[in-house]
Amino acid sequence: MTDNLMDKVISLCKRRGFIFQSSEIYGGLSSTWDYGPYGVELKNNIKAAWWRSCVQERDDIFGVDTAILMHPKVWEASGHIQNFFDLKRDCSSCKQWFKEADLGGDKNKCPECGAKLTEGKPFNLMFKTHQGPVEESANIVYLRPETAQGMFVNFLNILDSRHPKLPFGLAQIGKAFRNEITPGNFTFRTREFEQMEIEYFTYPQGSDEMYEKWVEERFNWYLNLGINPQNLRKRQHQKDELAHYALACTDIEYQFPFGFSELEGIANRTDFDLKQHEKFSGKEMTYFDDTKKEKIYPHIIEPSGGVDRATLAFLMDAYSEEKVKEETRVLLKLHKNLAPVKAAVLPLLKNRPQIVEIAKKISWDLKKSFAAVYDDTASIGKLYRRQDEAGTPFCVTVDVQSLEDLQVTVRERDTMEQVRVEIDNLKRYLLEKLTN
Ligand code: GAP
Repeated sequence: MTDNLMDKVISLCKRRGFIFQSSEIYGGLSSTWDYGPYGVELKNNIKAAWWRSCVQERDDIFGVDTAILMHPKVWEASGHIQNFFDLKRDCSSCKQWFKEADLGGDKNKCPECGAKLTEGKPFNLMFKTHQGPVEESANIVYLRPETAQGMFVNFLNILDSRHPKLPFGLAQIGKAFRNEITPGNFTFRTREFEQMEIEYFTYPQGSDEMYEKWVEERFNWYLNLGINPQNLRKRQHQKDELAHYALACTDIEYQFPFGFSELEGIANRTDFDLKQHEKFSGKEMTYFDDTKKEKIYPHIIEPSGGVDRATLAFLMDAYSEEKVKEETRVLLKLHKNLAPVKAAVLPLLKNRPQIVEIAKKISWDLKKSFAAVYDDTASIGKLYRRQDEAGTPFCVTVDVQSLEDLQVTVRERDTMEQVRVEIDNLKRYLLEKLTN
């Protein structure tokens, strides 16, 4: 792994417009981040790849987009009001606070100043606010700490509107909020983040095999998008680690510079959620099995991943440095489906109107089929370096010769190989490269 990889990636993210500190002109708000022009494209491409694989390429999963604010009883039923706590310890000397689980050997000693820490006190991670203009307890609502509950509470709506047969699932991508005691490691742990979650309803018999199938399916999704297999692993939860609702859980972990850490968890939640919502809402949350002529509570397999963590892992994994003629070339070897821009069109001489005109025309034409940009704001060497750092797989250069032979130079990001391609054939050439 490259030395100081985290610092280098953070610096590249700022330099190239992937990720900025939020509210930076006011000194920033700790552990909150804004995605810039390339960052939002990368994140959108990750979400699109997930949606394609988990919704559009299947006929057993339905997409939804549910509200962030939900009836407060949802969080009683889910167990979040009673159980969604971390233990927090405070230092009376340096006034810092710590999540008990993160403290190493001596949990009573402040890791910063060595003073004595308080006992661990439960701290609920849900953000609480009020709905409407009156701040009273009857109006309390929570910012959802997971997107999952929005899918459980729509179980009956999907049965009634789409009449699916088991097994089937719901999928959604959306914001979630947790008042983490110790956010950190750039975008890895934040208080506002996005999740991509599936709730897959299946027959109770065989839910173990379905769980195993989903672990494999989700693990392979990361590999198919180019993550180095050596940086990815599965870790099964021990019994004492399992969340209150889970029968089994496997984390897919990525080797970040701070160690292997969770990207996504796949849990077998059994019938816990449907039964809890039945108990708290009074609505029967069952599925009628036509073949056996009986009502059943399906079991739920839940693959739950973080968009921001996936984005960080793809950035880390793609970051590369190589020596080219005594200089260090920095590039992001992003999978072509994830690259924010697929092709950059660059005029070799920006003071030659004919070259600029052709380059702009090419870029407008390419834009109709995929993300392409035109750039003439620096010398060709600098433009190549910028596009390498943005992870752009192809640069297309229009030069003096192009005016005569109606060809352009196409340069590949990873190999730096250059070939001449006819302008008339350029889009077909690039599309073939981008889709194979
Ligand atoms: N519905 C189950 C659930 O929410 P989780 O393991 O608590 O499970 C799922 O969260 C995923 O959401 C994690 O694997 C992680 O990728 C992401 N995630 C959770 N907390 C996060 C945080 N504070 N910052 C960024 N991502 C987070």
